[in-house]
Amino acid sequence: MTLEVLNTQYEELPIRSGVDRKDRKMLAELMGRALASTYVLYHKTHAFHWNVTGPMFYSIHKMTDEHYQDMASAIDDIAERIRAIGFTAPTGLSRYVSESRISDETDLEDAVSMAMQLARDHQEVAAQLRDAAKEAEKVDDVYTADLLTARIGAHEEASWMLNALIVQ
Ligand SMILES: [Fe+2]
Repeated sequence: MTLEVLNTQYEELPIRSGVDRKDRKMLAELMGRALASTYVLYHKTHAFHWNVTGPMFYSIHKMTDEHYQDMASAIDDIAERIRAIGFTAPTGLSRYVSESRISDETDLEDAVSMAMQLARDHQEVAAQLRDAAKEAEKVDDVYTADLLTARIGAHEEASWMLNALIVQ
């Protein structure tokens, strides 16, 4: 006797939320790409948090701490929303890097360049989220639209804070 209940299956989950399957699939793909960008920016923020040096060390170290923690929980929220609308969340760091709109960074620059790069990246993620939120609104997935809209605000605020640090 096989215990079918224990078999791991990653089939699409049945959803009857009122949003068409093709629309949910489209949103799952958009959220998957937004997740990839957020994940890469999360890691870059963490790496800069560890390695930043100079007179702005404490400001950037502290600010990036808040930002990576915020993104860590956002990553979880976005991935679980993809599951909630019936699809699997993307796996594999190489996939995240290749689907991300944010460049993967392996070099370490000075503190001002780090802050500038992060500020620019947050704007880029905000723009990506804005496009995805518009699509969610169009197909009446209001919860997804709300989630993505809230994330736009978080990234725009992070960008403002980083820019305010380095403005002369
Ligand atoms: Fe830390």
